[in-house]
Amino acid sequence: MITVENLTKSFVGASGPVNALNGVDLNVQAGTVLGVVGPSGAGKSTLARCVALLERPDSGAIRVDGTDLVSLGGTALRAARRQIGVVPQGDSLLRQRTAAGNVALPLEAAGVAGPQRRTRVAELLDLVGLTDKADSYPDQLSGGQRQRIAVARALAASPSVLLADEPTSALDPETTGSVLTVLDRARAELGVTVLVVTHDMGVVRRICDDIAVLEQGRVVEHGKVLDLVADAGSRTAASLLPAVDQNPAADSAHDRVADVVLVGFAAVGALLPEAASRFGVELNLLGGGLTRLAETPVARFRVGLRGDRADSALEWISDAGAAVQRTPKGPQGVAA
Ligand SMILES: Nc1ncnc2c1ncn2[C@@H]1O[C@H](COP(=O)(O)OP(=O)(O)O)[C@@H](O)[C@H]1O
Ligand SMILES: [Mg+2]
Repeated sequence: MITVENLTKSFVGASGPVNALNGVDLNVQAGTVLGVVGPSGAGKSTLARCVALLERPDSGAIRVDGTDLVSLGGTALRAARRQIGVVPQGDSLLRQRTAAGNVALPLEAAGVAGPQRRTRVAELLDLVGLTDKADSYPDQLSGGQRQRIAVARALAASPSVLLADEPTSALDPETTGSVLTVLDRARAELGVTVLVVTHDMGVVRRICDDIAVLEQGRVVEHGKVLDLVADAGSRTAASLLPAVDQNPAADSAHDRVADVVLVGFAAVGALLPEAASRFGVELNLLGGGLTRLAETPVARFRVGLRGDRADSALEWISDAGAAVQRTPKGPQGVAA
């Protein structure tokens, strides 16, 4: 468990002081993947660098399993740093070392003996699916393969936290997938807590359990992705759910109109037809669609209902755990 409390950090920029972090609070459960998103300049990298103990915050605390890392120095600080593996922003491999040689670096620095080192490097190359590239040099690898080697290197010393700053920013969609798969495996197979900094909501869509949205050095939204998508007003819902095209004519042809967010196989598959048959109402899908967040199917539909018991049907859908937001119907907003 990582908690960040009231973290502040300012820099002296060319045109005066810049408050990169303005009191950031966060908590991340062990074994989850947190996506830190936000526009350029929001403070994402500064936050990541502070959590990695590469940068000292001006104030605040960073607790990993209760210990405040900001207060540490000397040997204790170095030990704490080993608990945090970092995949730096950009291309960070040493050009004159092979893939295996790059992965071995932190192990050499930690004084791990040759045979154990080779065993560990082999495990890590297997984890990132690049066993056959052990003897290749970075220039002989694709961008995605280089990033996977950087992840393997960050995991070499068996950290409990893995931090990746824009790990997919320079990659095409296909290669992005292979890097995200590796981050997901680190969590699933090693139980590592992953913080991934990204400006790409596609990364959140594919691997993140939790999300923190940063703007101007502040967390403006933070929580479980699957909770936030059910909140119609959230930024997470706005950027991850299928859009609902406005169709006033279709809306006004129904007694009730609502936007419904359904999360999980059972809800997506069965809730709406069951509501229609239980309450004897006609229920039509007027817009929206289906998507997938990591392994979970999620839908946002605009539904139109006809029948005397339309209100009861909507209430039942809501009681069954779906987020239901009624919309005023048609161009005149004729709410019945
Ligand atoms: N070393 C630095 N010196 C001066 N200003 C910095 C430094 N690092 C970051 N900043 C400033 O802090 C703000 C946040 O930067 P950063 O954390 O890199 O944002 P992000 O990663 O979200 O794009 C920006 O205004 C940036 O210019
Ligand atoms: Mg950045």
